[in-house]
Amino acid sequence: MERELRPMDAEQLREHAHKMVDFIADYYKTIENFPVLSQVEPGYLQKLLPDSAPNQPEGLQNVLDDVKSKILPGVTHWQSPNYFAYYPSNSSIAGFLGEMLSAGINMVGFSWITSPAATELEIIVLDWLGKMLKLPEEFLSSGQGGGVIQGTASEAVLVVLLAARDKVLRRVGKDSLKKLVAYGSDQTHSALQKACQIAGVHPENCRLLKTDSSRSYAISPDLLCEAISHDISVGLIPFFLCATVGTTSSTAVDPLLALGKIAKSNGIWFHVDAAYAGSACICPEYRCYIDGVEEADSFNMNAHKWFLTNFDCSALWVKDRNALIQSLSTNPEFLKNKASQANMVVDYKDWQIPLGRRFRSLKLWMVLRLYGVENLQCYIRNHINLAKYFEGLVAGDTRFETTMKIMATN
Ligand SMILES: Cc1ncc(COP(=O)(O)O)c(C=O)c1O
Repeated sequence: MERELRPMDAEQLREHAHKMVDFIADYYKTIENFPVLSQVEPGYLQKLLPDSAPNQPEGLQNVLDDVKSKILPGVTHWQSPNYFAYYPSNSSIAGFLGEMLSAGINMVGFSWITSPAATELEIIVLDWLGKMLKLPEEFLSSGQGGGVIQGTASEAVLVVLLAARDKVLRRVGKDSLKKLVAYGSDQTHSALQKACQIAGVHPENCRLLKTDSSRSYAISPDLLCEAISHDISVGLIPFFLCATVGTTSSTAVDPLLALGKIAKSNGIWFHVDAAYAGSACICPEYRCYIDGVEEADSFNMNAHKWFLTNFDCSALWVKDRNALIQSLSTNPEFLKNKASQANMVVDYKDWQIPLGRRFRSLKLWMVLRLYGVENLQCYIRNHINLAKYFEGLVAGDTRFETTMKIMATN
């Protein structure tokens, strides 16, 4: 008799998932025992695993034994309390539970009809977060704008750069692509350069303005004005400015208000990348770091960096959702449905690069509900206090000098 695959059923899920949760809970309990940085050599895993997939099914315990002996030695433990590389990647049990639920429901919510709750919860949760950050009303779903969860800050800057590119090209003609100029600084994340590459912006037209310690590595508005005037005088077309609140290598904060006014007066799309530091602005005393965001066309922060939400969850708000939709929308026969045709709903497929999308708002919703705003504010404050304490230790040691101050409050 032919054998057929019988996928695991709900009772097997219950049994296996309990084991898996126990395994993960034990991992968290003992995480400090691991060396934070994996000690393996390149190619180590190939020597430990068979070179083809098993013909017959194996038991979960066998697989977990292999995870313990072969996979965990090759893991760099980002959730270890001893992990201090790059930026934090703070997950949480609340975020984890949201991920679990999202994996369980496993829908592919590209348009409203494919799972109305996924789209509607994302709209609601991004409005909540937008209000916590005191973003201008125009970024909320009640107006012409709204929020969307992207995978990463890199995708966020790419989609808004595409929207900005197409908006200006509609005005000046498609043939002018090679004349378009984007601006950032030598501290701006390389995601801007990558977005320019993908969007067909000439590599020489991605201007990374020089910064220095005299302005704490922030973009100088005067330098930006000079660069724009020069570019216009030689027939180029400035179209995009990326400012950062909390740059990757120096945590510099660009002067949003001044830059935004320059961008506006030159018809330039103004994007604010607050991938890392944006989270701090849920505390009233740190909100001043995004003063001037009212001048921006788009704003982004990564909930997967400093907001207890498991990777990936990058929140992007735009003031004009139609600019995104005009760049990224397609409408093939097989995706048509009444709600979309009647323009009654948001179809997030038109706000992002891929078609398929996960139910990522669940984990952000879990974080917001299971911790609450006050606790999240305390969490941020505690981290900043720890950083200040560390700054004090460094300042008191003659072997070091500090050149920048830890976040000041207003
Ligand atoms: C300021 C800033 N922008 C963008 C990024 C890119 O983030 P992502 O990995 O979400 O693309 C980072 C990552 O460190 C960052 O610090």
